[in-house]
Amino acid sequence: MLELSAAHCLRTPAVVDSIAGLLGNTPTVRLDRLAASRGLDAAVFMKLEYLNPGGSHKARIALGMVIDAEKRGLLKRGSGQTIVEGTGGNTGIGLAIAANLLGYRLVLAVPDNYSKDKIKLLRAYGADVRLSDSRLGRDSHFRLARELLDRNPDWFMPDQLANPVNIQAHYESTGREIVAAFRKTPIDVFVAGAGSGGHITGIGRVLKEVWPNVTICLIQPEGCDFRANVFRPHRIQATAIGLVPKNLDLGIVDHYVGVLDEEALASVRLLMQYEGIGVGLSSGANIAGCLKIAATSGPDTRILCMAYDHVSDYLDAI
Ligand SMILES: Cc1ncc(COP(=O)(O)O)c(C=O)c1O
Repeated sequence: MLELSAAHCLRTPAVVDSIAGLLGNTPTVRLDRLAASRGLDAAVFMKLEYLNPGGSHKARIALGMVIDAEKRGLLKRGSGQTIVEGTGGNTGIGLAIAANLLGYRLVLAVPDNYSKDKIKLLRAYGADVRLSDSRLGRDSHFRLARELLDRNPDWFMPDQLANPVNIQAHYESTGREIVAAFRKTPIDVFVAGAGSGGHITGIGRVLKEVWPNVTICLIQPEGCDFRANVFRPHRIQATAIGLVPKNLDLGIVDHYVGVLDEEALASVRLLMQYEGIGVGLSSGANIAGCLKIAATSGPDTRILCMAYDHVSDYLDAI
């Protein structure tokens, strides 16, 4: 039942010392209108990670990796040292926020076929963006970042594909937030895509510790198969990036669901039209996966996925 009152607008906003103080504790929405529109009884939920600073779940790991490097003595706050990373966009925004707040220079390698708006945004944050030749493969930006590091050994690379802090950040924050939000009535299925693998692995691990019967479901673009290390070109940016990263623990995955580009796109629109929630394509792929699972599950099944980022970065694609 939808009820609105003036009280909704009168909540006192928090006063924080920096934007980092607004990281995490993102809300979760139950998508009953969307489910009903497909004739489904299952309860589908979406955690709105685009409400994080920088607009995605990746700010959590970006700040986490930089602060961890400071603790290990690899970075010195305010030193102007250079951080270099290969990123399709969202980790770059998170790193730009971390670099600007903590006093570092940032160089980002980004594939030349990625969202132009995101590249503009990264430059506006002050990052030095270097474009990699996407014809060289889906991991061209990671290879360019590695080459830049080889040429500049005094730079620091967080390395989201292998840095354990990526998993740990989601284990300790995102995963625990989910457990707290669903403490009274646990979820049955957690649905996620994988780029670096950090969030599905970190969240998957904590959910399985708390709810051993939970099913972890990995969404893969149709034609890609993480288990066989098979990838093909697709439009679901930032997922299935052409390799199985070290931070993706396939051991926690119980179930795999293939999603077509068109299904992800259609789900982005459905979510906007039935729920008023605008998300990016990989989040649309999650919704498509949730709906497929809901169609073959019992009416009481509770399915959760995340909205990684916002539709406003994908207006050219939808
Ligand atoms: C829009 C979007 N979707 C999905 C992912 C995948 O998340 P993870 O790297 O935690 O696997 C990313 C990662 O950058 C992303 O930016």
